Amino acid sequence: MKFTWNNRQTCAEITEQNVNDTVCVAGWVDTTRDHGHLLFIHLRDRSGTLQIVCDENKNQGLYKQSKTLRSEFVVNVTGTIQMRSPETINSSMNSGTIELIAEELEILSEAKTPPFMVSEKATEKMDLTVDEDIRLTYRYLDLRRQTMQRNIIGRSKIINAMRDTLNHAGFLDIETPFLTKSTPEGARDYLVPSRTHKNKCFALPQSPQLFKQMLMMSGFERYYQVARCFRDEDLRPNRQPEFTQLDLEASFVNETDVMTVTESLIQAAFASNGLTIETPFKHIKYQDAMNTYGSDAPDCRYDMTFGDVTETFKNCGYKIFNSIANAGGAIKGFAIPGLANELSKNMLQNDLAGKSIQSCGGKGLTWMKVLDNNEFESNIVQFFTNEELMAAREAVNGNVGDVMVFVADGSLATVNEVLGRFRVLVAERFNLIPEGVYSACWVTDFPLFELNDGQLTSPHHPFTQPTEPVHDGMSQEQLLNMTTRAYDVVINGQEVGGGSIRIHDSKQQAMIFKLLNLSEDEIEQKFGFFVDALTYGTPPHGGLAIGIDRLVSIILNTPSIRDVIAFPKNRVAYCPLTKAPSLVDEAQLDDLNIQHKTPIEELIGG
Ligand code: AMO
Repeated sequence: MKFTWNNRQTCAEITEQNVNDTVCVAGWVDTTRDHGHLLFIHLRDRSGTLQIVCDENKNQGLYKQSKTLRSEFVVNVTGTIQMRSPETINSSMNSGTIELIAEELEILSEAKTPPFMVSEKATEKMDLTVDEDIRLTYRYLDLRRQTMQRNIIGRSKIINAMRDTLNHAGFLDIETPFLTKSTPEGARDYLVPSRTHKNKCFALPQSPQLFKQMLMMSGFERYYQVARCFRDEDLRPNRQPEFTQLDLEASFVNETDVMTVTESLIQAAFASNGLTIETPFKHIKYQDAMNTYGSDAPDCRYDMTFGDVTETFKNCGYKIFNSIANAGGAIKGFAIPGLANELSKNMLQNDLAGKSIQSCGGKGLTWMKVLDNNEFESNIVQFFTNEELMAAREAVNGNVGDVMVFVADGSLATVNEVLGRFRVLVAERFNLIPEGVYSACWVTDFPLFELNDGQLTSPHHPFTQPTEPVHDGMSQEQLLNMTTRAYDVVINGQEVGGGSIRIHDSKQQAMIFKLLNLSEDEIEQKFGFFVDALTYGTPPHGGLAIGIDRLVSIILNTPSIRDVIAFPKNRVAYCPLTKAPSLVDEAQLDDLNIQHKTPIEELIGG
């Protein structure tokens, strides 16, 4: 049989059913092994790998040609499938019971020696890890690795499953502009200077928020988009300067409607990769999440919820606790399950109560082991009565064999935050997180405003509807106590999505802008078009956006969201492959009427 693109089969298609068939395959040479007279090729394509045998006794010319092959050459091979002899069966390979006896081989493309080994079969053996910037510089090679193929294919399946779900539910896929005006999502904008409108800039969208709301005003009722968003913010492991959202919005809906659609989307995303996640998701109010988990993105896979012992220790003999509790501060803690024997005094005192708690922003940590017979062990138990210790044990749900840990501070918010970070640190460090478990929750009732340098700001964007309407004459305290109809979806301690029911009343929207201290001029200049649009008959509406990169990374269990993005930026928002951002020609800058404030020579030290 002559190789053609029509009769090419993929490695995964070929099974024991094909024994004695003549087949054509094409792909990359993963590895070769020369046994003298017999040369084995592991051929790799998108679907998997297949062993190919070049036998000098059967075809001398072909064997000779096969000796010139190097890893990453692209070849096509025609030959006959046969069962492997029992001692050569490879159970770690899908096609490990069969092999292809080569009859014809054509080299379609030669390859230079790659800067790192692509074959995971070879790298596994050598336990090699490649620097991420090198991987990103040669991303096209990195993407050939089976793990990365699995990630990118898995991502595609997830996006398709979510699209299918929304298409079936009557949502319309509508695109919104990239060249647009700033949308306030709390980050800096990426700006695009205009050539035709001198001195003016477009902003790349931080999200399609205003456009999707205007689509509701336009009467489309149900919108979605796999939308690229751009945010110039400080990078963290789960953040990228450009990332993808599954963005949706619907009219005549309430929170329950949006949550139901979202849960079905997330379920479909998990199912597309053979996983299940339990629905309905738990609900937890923002303030309760902060009080019991010390985080607005609580990881509910494990317990270690906080107990408040401020009252319990108000009259205790331990000075620090005593004075903090009496000065209006807070003392809270949690029980680390079952580690009393494992955690030595030295580890607790010098590591956890030293470096570790400091890395969580805390000043100190008090620990107590819960022993049999209502006894406790620590360096300070002598300062407490047994009743106080028993009450503390009850507050944190401590069992025999647990280690109770407590943080005290003048500010309750600080205690919650420090303990929240410490809870995660302890869970990760001592392997207290159950594997293969997915735990999702909705966080609701977020505050409407936060105070930053004495000024009210929106923790979400300013289009979120307050739970109760805002009106003139409300005090700052009243305003700071108000909550919103916003909701975040959290999986395994990561914020995967967020949204809200929106303000659809232009007067209410104008009031919020006013409280955010935006002048009439600023409102007009930034959102005039939007406030105006609200006045022409706006349906009640709401929606949400799922961070696709984060969701995919959780489902595929990758160390970073960069591993599920084909061409991500590195840790400093730079693309080592294309070397972007880069300097541009002076002529291009002239066209845009731009002059560098600091001459290039000074910046590069020339
Ligand atoms: P929000 O800003 O919460 O909401 O974004 C929604 C989700 O997008 C993901 N996300 C990111 N992922 C990777 N890198 C980033 N830099 C990044 N920033 C956010 C998160 C987050 O939960 N317009 C609103 C949505 C709405 O109200 O409908 C918005 O963008 O998973």
